[in-house]
Amino acid sequence: MHKDFLEPQDRIFLGIETSCDETAVALVSGAFSKNSYPKGHILAHKIHSQVALHQSFGGVVPPVAASSHSLQLPALVKRLLQTAEIKPHQIDGIGVTAGPGLAGGLLVGVMFAKGLSIALKRPLWPIHHLQAHALVARLTHEIPFPYLVLLLSGGHCQLAVANSPRDFSLIGESTDDAPGECLDKVARCLGYSYPGGPSIEAAAKRGDPFSIPLPIAVSEHSYNFSFSGLKTACLRWIKQQQDLSFEKKADLCASLQNTITCSLGKKVSQFLSALPPASRPAFAVVCGGVASNEYIRQELAPYFQNYGVNLIAPPAQHCTDNGVMIAWATYEQSFAGMEGQFDFSTRARWPINDHSLQRTKYGG
Ligand code: KG4
Ligand code: ZN
Repeated sequence: MHKDFLEPQDRIFLGIETSCDETAVALVSGAFSKNSYPKGHILAHKIHSQVALHQSFGGVVPPVAASSHSLQLPALVKRLLQTAEIKPHQIDGIGVTAGPGLAGGLLVGVMFAKGLSIALKRPLWPIHHLQAHALVARLTHEIPFPYLVLLLSGGHCQLAVANSPRDFSLIGESTDDAPGECLDKVARCLGYSYPGGPSIEAAAKRGDPFSIPLPIAVSEHSYNFSFSGLKTACLRWIKQQQDLSFEKKADLCASLQNTITCSLGKKVSQFLSALPPASRPAFAVVCGGVASNEYIRQELAPYFQNYGVNLIAPPAQHCTDNGVMIAWATYEQSFAGMEGQFDFSTRARWPINDHSLQRTKYGG
């Protein structure tokens, strides 16, 4: 609990995240002095992970996820307030993930947040889950806009530019699987539990990243990614093995991590090399659940450094889904003069560069 950070002029934002299989909430206090850069602190955060619920299915079961969110969310918020020693009326604003994500879970979070907004008479902000992944790096590092974003999650792989807290441009994205999907599927075939990323990372520590040649999708005409060929190659390799020893599994995991990193790095290099040096951003952020992988975040950095771009990876606990990123994105929007709004619905699909839910106090 960091209530000691609270200054009288600070405002407190509650963030609610229910888009997938984590019920996550957080309270972030943000300064509203004449700073040009937003400065905030985490007052408290809570996560209820549904991993155990979905493990036997090998992936997230949407209706099970939604009913668990509705069961857990009220008590989680209560415990959050107790930990932060904050009374509900001290909350100045509420942010909730409005998309993209699983429709049922999003609905639970948004209905709960709307109820709270009415009861407390506090403004509400619909938060874009992917934008929040990209923004939370600014809580721990001073990163000016515009900056490059490499978002690597369970369902998305995107190269984008963050121009402001609600203005993103999309450069490229995966045309098939996301890296997280690829890791989860390979992990499942190796007999590891869901989600696969952490098990692959643990096994890879004992393996040789250059032992098994795996394919890198190459397309020189776009900045899009593709990981389905890599996934298929891994599954084919697993089938071909007579026995799958611990060492062989470790080598595959290490080679997979390395190939994902090379694929991402090559695409980033292709993009940055096409930009005139003066137009290259000073910073890039790698974020999303897969960015919590120590090997991937470390090995990606030189691809950016070669072009004078400083790669920032948020702390691992801010990469996987969490409530802090939603509370922080809410503060960022409020700080940037974006108005809260009540009249919005959930969006299971919501492009990162869509501006239709954007409202400033100047209208539009
Ligand atoms: O961002 P996230 O928590 O949820 C989505 O918005 O999708 O990302 C989840 C993905 C899963 O595919 C999971 O296997 C992967 O992130 N992941 C990891 C690690 N931890 C989670 N991948 C690689 N290494 C990890 N340590
Ligand atoms: Zn996510």
